[in-house]
Amino acid sequence: ADTLGAAAAESGRYYGTAVVPELLDDSAYGSTLNREFNSVVAENVMKWDATEPNRGQFNFSGGDRIVEHARSRGMSVRGHTLVWHAQQPGWVQGLTGDSLRQAMLDHISGVAGHYRGQIHSWDVVNEAFEWDGSRRQSNLQQQLGNGWIEEAFRAADSADPNAKLCYNDYGTDGINAKSDAIYRMVQDFRSRGVPIDCVGFQSHLDSNSDLSTYRQNLQRFADLGIDVQITELDIGGSGSAQANAYRTVTQACVAVSRCNGITIWGFTDAHSWRGDDTPLLFDTNYNKKEAYYAVLDALNSA
Ligand code: G3I
Repeated sequence: ADTLGAAAAESGRYYGTAVVPELLDDSAYGSTLNREFNSVVAENVMKWDATEPNRGQFNFSGGDRIVEHARSRGMSVRGHTLVWHAQQPGWVQGLTGDSLRQAMLDHISGVAGHYRGQIHSWDVVNEAFEWDGSRRQSNLQQQLGNGWIEEAFRAADSADPNAKLCYNDYGTDGINAKSDAIYRMVQDFRSRGVPIDCVGFQSHLDSNSDLSTYRQNLQRFADLGIDVQITELDIGGSGSAQANAYRTVTQACVAVSRCNGITIWGFTDAHSWRGDDTPLLFDTNYNKKEAYYAVLDALNSA
């Protein structure tokens, strides 16, 4: 196939990108998006600060635009993200104890309920672990204790029982202390029947990142009986080094049958949270880069 989405679809996978609603009507941005991708995720507008700026007052304008754009073109949608220590609205930051717990549960039911039936996979909880495998000492962890992640997954399951529910994190690009801790959490959730369906590997990488255990790491999570997804891929660099790293990651996903999709964190170097790192598949003029062809080739070889 000659587009990323079509090539991925041949092995039953999606190939997606993060998007911002303001650019959907830009002709170069929109035409590349619509041609190449069969999945999208909101880069920012479905986060807590955007969707619930005041307690109990929801704003779905940006998210709805993205979901509508996707659904009218047959693209699937990832949801990002229900609960995260960052990009919380100001009113959440001062809450304590059961008031914070109730705010979290209400937020999950409000947002996941609004999009019920329309989201392929939700990042229910984002970035809750430190590099050493300990829990991040966020307001959620400190106020609610270790059980908060499980509570969030149970609430998401009630709000949208058909979405796949994912835990999502970065720095999990191989077998290391952080991915070990997440692995143990998933193992525990599975053994106790806590609803978790997938783990997202963000994969914010550089051309020289160590990818020696990347595939093996995906596989061990898949062997727990869950799906794995590459959720925020971008790789700083250029030329063949960048292309080779993209190829390695893509080959790893297609080698793992439960790796059901890849999402890149933006697609044009003109719009990346990484500024001048040129980490994406299209240059600032929407030309295909060497990395693009490496990815397409790896998808077509699946
Ligand atoms: O909304 C304001 C806007 O009103 C204002 O005009 C503008 C001026 O700078 O700032 C806007 O907010 C920014 C927002 O992006 C939207 O552009 C925030 O300052 C900025 O911090 C925010 O950055 C986002 C970041 O998450 C926040 O932590 C990035 O775009 C986004 O790519 C990044 O994505 C995260 C994932 O959600 C989780 N994993 C890591 C990944 C990269 O950091």
